[in-house]
Amino acid sequence: MEKVIRYASEKNIELLINMYLTEVENHYQRAKEFAKDLVFKLKTLLCITDENVIGTVSWDSRGGLNDGVVELVGLGVNSSFRRQGIAKLLIISLINEAKKFFSADGYKLRVIYLFMEREHRIGRLFYKNLGFREVSIIPAFYPDDDATIWIKYF
Ligand SMILES: CC(C)(COP(=O)(O)OP(=O)(O)OC[C@H]1O[C@@H](n2cnc3c(N)ncnc32)[C@H](O)[C@@H]1OP(=O)(O)O)[C@@H](O)C(=O)NCCC(=O)NCCS
Repeated sequence: MEKVIRYASEKNIELLINMYLTEVENHYQRAKEFAKDLVFKLKTLLCITDENVIGTVSWDSRGGLNDGVVELVGLGVNSSFRRQGIAKLLIISLINEAKKFFSADGYKLRVIYLFMEREHRIGRLFYKNLGFREVSIIPAFYPDDDATIWIKYF
């Protein structure tokens, strides 16, 4: 099946709400907040196949353009499409988009970082595989876990 990567827009809100309700939890209010954040507050790339959203990655720059810093805020692939390289494809697309974002103004992407639960076994394997490394632990950052910061330099 053909996979298309493109930015989320207001037209995708309903699709994103449904994805949250199916993949994360059955809570409409939080699903709506999630969808609105992805579309209006962050830069969000969608992986679409057959008119369904099967994965998302959200990011934004942090600090000044000369810092060249990006935070990867969220990444998810629908459970029935995992282990097919979709998250990897989304991260590669994010890297390309972030490079374009900075170079448009004569700057460079230097760093991508993210916060993740310390005990997230699959997340660790995934980011390690993509050349990120764990640099710091933040105690009790989440209600039920510490956070770790993962980072990739360019
Ligand atoms: C983590 C997540 C995004 C990975 O998505 P995915 O599309 O299945 O990942 P990919 O197929 O691109 O995997 C790339 C590589 O990561 C590693 N990996 C991914 N999932 C793995 C798993 N379940 N077990 C072991 N290694 C795994 C492997 O090295 C894999 O390469 P391989 O399949 O050639 O061995 C997905 O499991 C997910 O959405 N989880 C819930 C949300 C989440 O945890 N988000 C990330 C934290 S911010």
